[in-house]
Amino acid sequence: MTRGSLLVDHIGELVTNDGRDGDPLGVRRDAALLIEDGEVVWTGPARHAPAADRRIDAGGAAVLPGFVDSHAHLVFAGDRAAEFAARMAGERYTGGGIRTTVGATRAASDDDLRATVGRLRAEMLRQGTTTVEIKSGYGLNVADEARSLRIAAEFTGDTTFLGAHVVPAEYADRPDDYVGLVCGPMLAAAAPYARWIDVFCERGAFDADHARAILACGQAAGLGVRLHANQLGPGPGVRLGVELGAASVDHCTHLTDADVDALADSETVATLLPGAEFSTRSPYPDARRLLDAGVTVALATDCNPGSSYTSSMPFCVALAVREMRMTPAEAVWAATAGGAAALRRTDVGRLTPGARADLIILDAPSHLHLAYRPGVPLIRQVLHNGVPR
Ligand code: NIG
Ligand code: FE
Repeated sequence: MTRGSLLVDHIGELVTNDGRDGDPLGVRRDAALLIEDGEVVWTGPARHAPAADRRIDAGGAAVLPGFVDSHAHLVFAGDRAAEFAARMAGERYTGGGIRTTVGATRAASDDDLRATVGRLRAEMLRQGTTTVEIKSGYGLNVADEARSLRIAAEFTGDTTFLGAHVVPAEYADRPDDYVGLVCGPMLAAAAPYARWIDVFCERGAFDADHARAILACGQAAGLGVRLHANQLGPGPGVRLGVELGAASVDHCTHLTDADVDALADSETVATLLPGAEFSTRSPYPDARRLLDAGVTVALATDCNPGSSYTSSMPFCVALAVREMRMTPAEAVWAATAGGAAALRRTDVGRLTPGARADLIILDAPSHLHLAYRPGVPLIRQVLHNGVPR
């Protein structure tokens, strides 16, 4: 954090997310924003901008809150490019490749894992992501889950214990024993480094009874609940998440009307991960249906070496607009304020007094360009905690 005040001036379009009806983004034109000690302390018309120690001239560009990527699996080794190529040649995604990454991750040194997380975190920052959640889930034994989270915690406060990603090969014929391990010694070793607990609740991974048991143990250990649910087919995950008061249920690709109704009556966010559908060549979730029902929607990358090896929130915004019938404003809101809601954070995802000074200056006059100009590097400058990066 840099001391002293910093004024971001000549903002053509300021996205505050301090929305009113019909304008979820709370857009202000010809605006300025004042930062002190890493916090937004004032926003208003540029002509009323106060004096400051330093100044950045946005030159009429759009300024947005930094992206909040609420779902990423960054602690892993190796890649699965060949699996991707096979899918593009017609193979189906089943999640079976997770065990390949588990083998590579267990064999990697701490420094190798740390270097991968650092490289991906830097990639994210260059693309405007200022808050990221990082999961374990490629260790799947006590020591490797604990070290995955220890390394993740070097990069973010939003760390998630995903010991229940799949049943590892050595427990294949005794899944109940693996659930016992996750709830017992693995949770005990992981909890000091974790804020959240997550389960892959899906056919081929964990069923509703196992997921409920694991999430309940995590809650008892003080962790918040989030869930991988309804990715590969319909199932009980979304309603289980709502029942347990999950902050977010993630994927939500295959939903029944009852799932949508349950979400609409809850505080649980539906986090959509279009990078996974892109990279597994699967049908996209129906964001329009969720939004029209009044569900809070977030967008995240799901960055992982198997189903979605993208670190780019702008790419996810563009996919959501083109493929999931979200308006550009809804997609930008979901990638910022939506992600913050999915992490139950009130300090990020908005640019109003009291917020952390995490912001993006676009190389464009409007947030619309994020979807209108897909694949173009539009992130001119990122400020994280008020510091230019
Ligand atoms: O969110 N669905 C489960 N986990 C990841 C995929 C992990 C992998 O294939 O390595 C996901 O898509
Ligand atoms: Fe995931």
